[in-house]
Amino acid sequence: MSPFLCVIFLLCLSTLATAAKFNQVYEWDELDYEWPAEANRTKSLIDGTFKPEDMSPLYMAVFGSRLFLSLGSYNGIPVSLVTVPTSSTSTKHPKLTPFPSWEVHDNGKYGDCNKIEVAAGLQVDSIGRLWVLDSGSSECKAKLWIIDLNNNDRTKLVHRFVFRNWMHDLVLDETADGTFAYISRWGESHIVVFNLKRKQSWMVYTPSKIQVISIAISPNMEEPRKLYLGKLISEEVYSISAATLRSGITRRVNPKLIGNWKTTDPYRMLIDNQGIMYSAFPAENLEHK
Ligand SMILES: *[C@@H]1O[C@H](CO)[C@@H](O)[C@H](O)[C@H]1NC(C)=O
Repeated sequence: MSPFLCVIFLLCLSTLATAAKFNQVYEWDELDYEWPAEANRTKSLIDGTFKPEDMSPLYMAVFGSRLFLSLGSYNGIPVSLVTVPTSSTSTKHPKLTPFPSWEVHDNGKYGDCNKIEVAAGLQVDSIGRLWVLDSGSSECKAKLWIIDLNNNDRTKLVHRFVFRNWMHDLVLDETADGTFAYISRWGESHIVVFNLKRKQSWMVYTPSKIQVISIAISPNMEEPRKLYLGKLISEEVYSISAATLRSGITRRVNPKLIGNWKTTDPYRMLIDNQGIMYSAFPAENLEHK
């Protein structure tokens, strides 16, 4: 077993000019679920569906006082989407609660296409719905789930994509004509566009040299909205207009090179409502205006 430490920080940015202040909220040396009964845990440890040392949180979203995490694993885990409260007075290392329930997950039973198999990128929209990318498996196509956090966490499997695997991140574009999701996959030379109103998805291809990893979108009030793309194993950042993707007509785009990070592989990118872009790198953090 390789020991690891997992920490969640709350970040406070009071104004643009002040330095960020971090508050450590939780710290785990091993993650574990809130099991229905100890017998379930023991059984899963014995049959190998649960390997606590394999769980690593990769994506995060927040709504009210709930924090949602997607857990990555190379070997499969019973549940890949969990929730913990944003603050807790009782414990510094809470158990992870399967979200929305144990039943919605495959529980380590490989290849059930009606369950959440491998949760990846997460986003909450303006009306409190959690969008969850699901990579699927070699048996099942990738999927998109929407969970209504304001309505008893009502869960819908809204779409099955034509491909499987390698889901990474998504951004949402809420327009007068409904909500669109733009999805990046690990190092693929395309963006997947999903139109919620029509329940349709399609690929928009980038030149083969632009293998997209991270994806970010400019703030809502800023029109024309732009998408920003971080490239795999590269410092380059590209942009394209969101309107081009929405139409469904354009299937090939030529994103514009707009700059270089000073380091490679922006794993995730995010733009706040002031138009400041943040990026996470495995080794360091940078901020660009
Ligand atoms: C827990 O164990 C009970 C009894 O074996 C079983 O019916 C139930 O499905 C298990 N639940 C989970 C989430 O593994």
